[in-house]
Amino acid sequence: MRVIIQEDYDKMCLWAAHYIADKIKNHTEDRPFILGLPTGSSPIGVYKELARMNQAGELSFAYVVSFNMDEYVGLDHDLDQSYWYFMHDNFFNHLVDMKPENINILNGMTEDPEAECAAYEEKIASYGGINLFMGGIGVDGHIAFNEPFTSLASRTGLRTLTTDTRIVNSRFFGNDSEKVPAYALSVGVGTVTDSKEVLILINGHNKARALAKTVEGNVSHKWTCSALQMHNGAIIACDEAACGELTVDTYKYFLDIEKDQRL
Ligand code: GLP
Repeated sequence: MRVIIQEDYDKMCLWAAHYIADKIKNHTEDRPFILGLPTGSSPIGVYKELARMNQAGELSFAYVVSFNMDEYVGLDHDLDQSYWYFMHDNFFNHLVDMKPENINILNGMTEDPEAECAAYEEKIASYGGINLFMGGIGVDGHIAFNEPFTSLASRTGLRTLTTDTRIVNSRFFGNDSEKVPAYALSVGVGTVTDSKEVLILINGHNKARALAKTVEGNVSHKWTCSALQMHNGAIIACDEAACGELTVDTYKYFLDIEKDQRL
C-alpha cells in the first residue's frame, strides 16, 4: 500500500487529480479507461481540477467510461440529494467531452435491485474490469456503502445503512437523519478490490481513526477499508489533518518514502 500525505486538502486533491489524469491519457476508443468514481465532499476538489484540465484542453474524457460506487434507494435523479444529481452537478456537467452513454450509475429507483446490481457487475466485467477506482471513506471506515461487517468479498448489491451513517449524511438532508434513505445500492468491497488500482481519499480530523485502521489495523470486516491491505495497487491520498491517529513511525515512514510526491 502507498500512502501519500499532503499538507492540506487542496494539495491532496491536486495530487490525486494529476495521478488520475496521467492514467487517463493515451487511451483510445478501442481501449477506453474504466474509472470508478465516488460521491461525497472528499472528491469535490479532485473533480474541480479534472474538469479544469478538461476545459483547458489538457485532458480528454472522450475515451473514459465511468462507474459510480453507489446510489441511494428511492431518490429520483432530479433530487439534489441523489448521487446521480451530485455527479452531474459536481463533475459530468463540467466536462466538455465525456459521453453520456459512458456514464454508469446504479439506478436506485429500480424495481428489481438484484437484477440491477447483477447487470452492473456484468457491465464492469464486459470492459475487462475497472482500471482505477477512486473512493472516499466513511468515519466508520466504509468504502462505497459497505458498512462494518459487510463481507470483504462482497459484490454489488443492496445495503442497509447504519444509523450512524444516516446521521453523518443528514447534512445533505436538512440535518434530518430520518430523511436519509435507509437503503442504498453499492458496489461490493470485492468489486472495488478487483480493480487494478484503488485510490482512496482520506482528509480531515474526523477521518483520522479510519485512516489508522486502513493503514495500521488488522484486516477485518469491521473496518471494510482494511481490505485494501490485501490489494496490490492500493493508494491512500490523505492530508495532514487525517494523520492524527497514525503512529509517528508510520507517519514518518510514508513521508520519507513518498517524499518525491509531496507538493
Ligand atoms: C458516503 C458515501 C461514501 C463516501 C462517504 C464519505 O457514505 N457512500 O462513498 O466515501 O460518504 O463522504 P465524505 O467524503 O463526504 O466524507
